[in-house]
Amino acid sequence: MQAENGKEIKTRVFRVSEENFDAVLEEAAEIIRRGGTVAFPTETVYGIGADGLDPEAVRKIFEAKARPPGNPLSLLVHSREDLGKIARNIPEKAFKLMEAFWPGPLTIVLEKSDVVPAITSGSLPSIGVRMPDHRVPLELIRRAGAPLAAPSANLSGRPSPSSADHVLADLEGRVDAVIDGGGVAIGLESTVVDMTVEPPLVLRPGAIGIEELEIVIGPVRAGYQGAEAGARENTLEKRAGQKYAHYTPCTSVVLVEGEGDSVAEKLGELLESYMSDGQKVGLLLSEESAAFLVSEGLSGEERFLLGSREDPIEAARKLFEGLRALDLKGLDVILADGSFSAGGLGTALLNRLREASSLRFAV
Ligand code: TXA
Ligand code: MG
Repeated sequence: MQAENGKEIKTRVFRVSEENFDAVLEEAAEIIRRGGTVAFPTETVYGIGADGLDPEAVRKIFEAKARPPGNPLSLLVHSREDLGKIARNIPEKAFKLMEAFWPGPLTIVLEKSDVVPAITSGSLPSIGVRMPDHRVPLELIRRAGAPLAAPSANLSGRPSPSSADHVLADLEGRVDAVIDGGGVAIGLESTVVDMTVEPPLVLRPGAIGIEELEIVIGPVRAGYQGAEAGARENTLEKRAGQKYAHYTPCTSVVLVEGEGDSVAEKLGELLESYMSDGQKVGLLLSEESAAFLVSEGLSGEERFLLGSREDPIEAARKLFEGLRALDLKGLDVILADGSFSAGGLGTALLNRLREASSLRFAV
């Protein structure tokens, strides 16, 4: 069943519907109970899950993703009751966050209990825990009877998958089964907040913004790419989970950040200069920047539109699809538009664009 000694697994694909929901979930849960791996949709991105308390099953996730050992996985839970088993010394503020945002796109880092194996937590004394807002993983966890270790279902370092096709492109032959539940609602991975430190530290921005967290628990600090420099310097070195590359397509990405049409103007300049060097250029654009470039008589050979600058929610949903689609075109460079409005998902979107890029301009 598993990829042992480089041997391929036969990956089963279940297309889940109202009619076959019970049967599919029962088969998938059986695979998990036997120590296998199953990829499935969540409201954020697709995840690859295995019994998070079984070191041998968790090892298969690392193998499937070619994930560097030591990079911690998070656990998906079905109910607050599951928590007592896997975490301890849970601070009052963490319960407030669960009350406010679970089920939903918030991973809460807590002190782990001894039942969580070292391979799952990357040998850290803490563990990220999330209750997803999607009936497929909730039912899978319930039927499997164990919290699922469930990172995003992509090859390590590649953009996260927002469809079952993305999962199959990366993990066919490496995962036992994929549950195809269609597209995802959010498209970017969850917000990660470390509640083992005071004040709490946001390690990854997601759909739940810092402002929303602060309404519930008071001051939190930002410790991620794009957060103010001081916070990063103090924390990044120490954060085991954050030291690995993320969200990178194979083609190099050049990001232009700033306001409105000054971004579009800079993108136009870069486009002309790359093209006059004979490079094949792809564009990842807001509709407004696309219209600006057309009005200047400029167009790239390949473009992917993320929607309006004013609608980071739509852009977030399309981002990983756009990066993957352009990555398949054999381009020399992708020029990315960073003119989307910040705040909430806009902040998360810009963070992922920065993570994906190897060169950045601010205008
Ligand atoms: O939305 C999501 O969170 C998706 C879906 C599938 O649930 N999962 C996901 O998993 O993005 P993954 O493993 O790709 O990202 C989990 C993040 C990583 O940045 C990891 O380093 C961090 O959480 N993390 C997990 N446990 C941690 C810990 N104990 N301390 C610090 N960071 C931790
Ligand atoms: Mg990931």
